[in-house]
Amino acid sequence: MADTKKLFIKTYGCQMNVYDSERMAEALGVEAMGEAGYEQVSSPDKADMILLNTCHIREKAAEKVYSELGRLKGLKAKNPDLKIGVTGCVAQAEGEEIVRRQPAVDLVVGPQSYHRLPAMEAKVRSGDRALDTDFPQEDKFDHLKSRPKAKRGPTAFLTVQEGCDKFCAFCVVPYTRGAEVSRPVDRIIGEARDLVERGVREITLLGQNVNAYHGLDDAGDEASLADLIWKLNAVDGLERIRFTTSHPNDMDDALIEAHGTCEKLMPYLHLPVQAGSDRILKTMNRKHTAEDYIRLIERIRAARPDILISGDFIVGFPEESDQDFADTMALIEEVKYGQAFSFKYSTRPGTPAAEKPQIDPDVASDRLYRLQALLTQQQRDIQDAMVGHEVGVLFEKTGRLEGQLIGKSDHLHAVHVLAPSDMIGEIGRVKIVASEANSLKGELICD
Ligand code: SAH
Ligand code: SF4
Ligand code: F3S
Repeated sequence: MADTKKLFIKTYGCQMNVYDSERMAEALGVEAMGEAGYEQVSSPDKADMILLNTCHIREKAAEKVYSELGRLKGLKAKNPDLKIGVTGCVAQAEGEEIVRRQPAVDLVVGPQSYHRLPAMEAKVRSGDRALDTDFPQEDKFDHLKSRPKAKRGPTAFLTVQEGCDKFCAFCVVPYTRGAEVSRPVDRIIGEARDLVERGVREITLLGQNVNAYHGLDDAGDEASLADLIWKLNAVDGLERIRFTTSHPNDMDDALIEAHGTCEKLMPYLHLPVQAGSDRILKTMNRKHTAEDYIRLIERIRAARPDILISGDFIVGFPEESDQDFADTMALIEEVKYGQAFSFKYSTRPGTPAAEKPQIDPDVASDRLYRLQALLTQQQRDIQDAMVGHEVGVLFEKTGRLEGQLIGKSDHLHAVHVLAPSDMIGEIGRVKIVASEANSLKGELICD
């Protein structure tokens, strides 16, 4: 038998791309394709197939792909059998344009057509190019069943909803991922059970708008994200549930309440607001005010007082004035974030905000600097306040030091602890004894 072919995937962008890369590796794997299948490798050097699973959210992310392709095409001289593919949101947004800019690319496939990858692979092996950026009718998840039963680490992502109908004025996602689609409840529970059998203890439910989830249940009724979480709460062996990313307008009462009552739902919520000025929120098409968001956070904290709030911010959105920016800083002061991601506005072709007058990039850089300083301070304060507390830590891997394990707390802080390596995959009770640069130091509580 010939050597198994080798597949290298480089993943950019959000967690959904991480999940999709796993599914693509499975779809092209030996278990799925027999002798024609691939094993995944961790370096592009000896690969027979390289896939760049790309992100289009900001200009820098998209441009990175072309510089990477420029580097990778040289590998074709060493291995004439090497095929290069572009998948993900740049593939969806730019399609054929990718091949025009970089003719070394053999395959381009958008996120909704990944189940067609095996057929596309056969096509490129026979010397043709393959391009697919359709939004097909069939359900790709049905054709991307996770077959392998291999052991997995203790945490996993599980996509439950994809696409977005919100059309924020700055954002490419509704164009690259298409309209909102929710997977049926039974498929998700089946996949969760399968993950648990393979060693997973914590599942993060994914969706571009995960709390807009409205999949069908067995009875043919629509289930909300809260309904789905309660069903997962009953899965034996699953210890922790998280979800991301939520939109403020889809935080319904049942989901807020679940944060107070559902024992496996972790006290962490990523709830992007983007800006604190009502004028800017309106032109962003976010459909809520700063006050709405602050009141919502109050209700969530009433349900679960220790919840850690995380957010996304964009500075330098077209027409953002000093006062608008001051309003964003005031909102941050009021909410107090335990984690945050902040970006300078990036003009995206085809989005409504791209048509508006852009602001001075130096002003935007200065605002980003000030905003990040405030957010970093808040994160530090919240992390420091964990010292002296007892937390649950799911141990994921060994640390740099002898005898050390690394895991995540209930609040998603990285924690390192001296503990035996057979505790990987277990949740230990840990007392936090110090707060360091990017992690907490803990001691195992043995009783
Ligand atoms: N669905 C999520 C976010 C998806 S994109 C939500 O509704 O919030 C992740 C983050 O990237 C966004 O929250 C936003 O902060 C940022 N982002 C999106 N488009 C951007 C752009 N054109 N420029 C800068 N940041 C952007
Ligand atoms: Fe983009 Fe807005 Fe949809 Fe989030 S809600 S994916 S920011 S359009
Ligand atoms: Fe990027 Fe697409 Fe995710 S644009 S952030 S990879 S949905």
